[in-house]
Amino acid sequence: MTESQLADDANPLLAGLAGPRTPDPCALVIFGASGDLSRRKLLPALYALARNGLLPDAFAVLGVGRTEMTDAGFQAHMRGAIEQHGRFAFDEDVWRELAAGMRYVAAGLDDESAGGPVTDALKALERERGTAGNRVFYLAVPPAAMEDVVAAIGTWRPAGGWRRLIVEKPLGHDLASARQLNAFVLERFFESEVFRIDHYLGKETVQNLAVLRFANGIFEPVWNRQFIDHVQITAAESIGIGSRGAFYEHTGATRDIFQNHLLQLLALTAMEPAADFTADAVRNEKVKVFKSLDRPGLEQLVRGQYGPGFVEGGEVRGYREEEEVASESVTETYFAAKLYVDNWRWAGTPFYVRCGKRLARQETTIAIQFKRAPHLPFALDSDDDARPNVLLIHIQPDEGVSMTLNAKVPGYGVTIRGVNMDFAYGGAFRTDLPEAYERLILDALLGDAILFTRADEVEEQWALVDAIRAHWQADPDGLAGYVAGSWGPSNADALIHGDNRSWRRH
Ligand code: BG6
Repeated sequence: MTESQLADDANPLLAGLAGPRTPDPCALVIFGASGDLSRRKLLPALYALARNGLLPDAFAVLGVGRTEMTDAGFQAHMRGAIEQHGRFAFDEDVWRELAAGMRYVAAGLDDESAGGPVTDALKALERERGTAGNRVFYLAVPPAAMEDVVAAIGTWRPAGGWRRLIVEKPLGHDLASARQLNAFVLERFFESEVFRIDHYLGKETVQNLAVLRFANGIFEPVWNRQFIDHVQITAAESIGIGSRGAFYEHTGATRDIFQNHLLQLLALTAMEPAADFTADAVRNEKVKVFKSLDRPGLEQLVRGQYGPGFVEGGEVRGYREEEEVASESVTETYFAAKLYVDNWRWAGTPFYVRCGKRLARQETTIAIQFKRAPHLPFALDSDDDARPNVLLIHIQPDEGVSMTLNAKVPGYGVTIRGVNMDFAYGGAFRTDLPEAYERLILDALLGDAILFTRADEVEEQWALVDAIRAHWQADPDGLAGYVAGSWGPSNADALIHGDNRSWRRH
């Protein structure tokens, strides 16, 4: 056991946090292993799992990528990635054990014969590491390469053991392509073998949303249209698009963030309690939310694109000046909508959602704004002094939950001021939160699909996005500009001000 593991053990607040679940022996085959996701997220996550003793003793990683590398070269590359991006101090013992089962094959899988070297290497590694034929395939490849890889591995059924497929987004770019991809995958794998990643579901605070709602008796009775005035879901980023211009030009905020992360947050906020916390029970409830989402009219939608400005003190260029972005681009980097979940619980309660790049700062929150107290018996200058209660779920950063209450300001008269009741993860549990990918990889190795999206969920999400984008085709001039470092275009304010409400103050 390493020093930091001992330190964790000494923290009594960690008791009961992570049940010791260890997966079966298995080999993880990463397609796209020489890419950015592997370096930044996957290998650091595997290292963290190894360091916390959560990987099986018989475990192997086979990297597959187009870049030519030897096994040793791959290991050195990944060691560098872990040192740079890992959340724990680098421990030679942990690394040595992980690296011992790590191999690499340079191959694309664009023709049938190309799979030969990969299967040969996989079989040799399986024999060496005793992984019992259990295989997890991780698709971290660009969309254009996905079908080739799925077609090849679809035929690699091990003699014994189970197999699973982890698929990274984007899962299509519209409903038709998502259906095609789902059908292609499901001709070769069972739905129960497919693990579609929406990394937001791996975030600790997103999982806590279900616990907050369904493990506390006080919320459920008021979690509905009678007590809640409206909901605001914000996924604001201060970063721009970095070096992803070519990708982003064909994606935009609506497909990049709203279609998946924002809609998942909305579903978890709005869904009915599931009978049990199992993958299908929870996913059935989320699908019901997506099916109940009213198709918004154009007047319920805002899209914007950032121009030059200042973000967190630094000057930044506008979207159209970014690398690999067209000078006349009409790709949206901001999206806001007023949505309605048309069912008994939520009818008439707006869900205002927004996401964007180059906004004033990074913040992902869900704000549940309750209705005002029905009658105020105090002599106040203005009813605005007693603001409605807000339950604010901080997804990131400053992870936690806070509730605003009205309190009497100490003194001889009655003056009311809003105060916060806060739960902050850092203070309450005194531990770092695991990275989303740690939890997601572990769950896939364990075969637990609760934090992964099902084919029908993905298709429902795309159906809504298609309906939204169809409006834009009919409204080509509707893209608003906003200054980088602001909170988005002014018509996003108008969207909510028109209902006598405002975006949550930052
Ligand atoms: C990804 C998007 O899915 O999520 C990125 O493609 C975005 O554009 C990222 O920056 C945000 O994730 P997180 O975990 O940093 O909020």
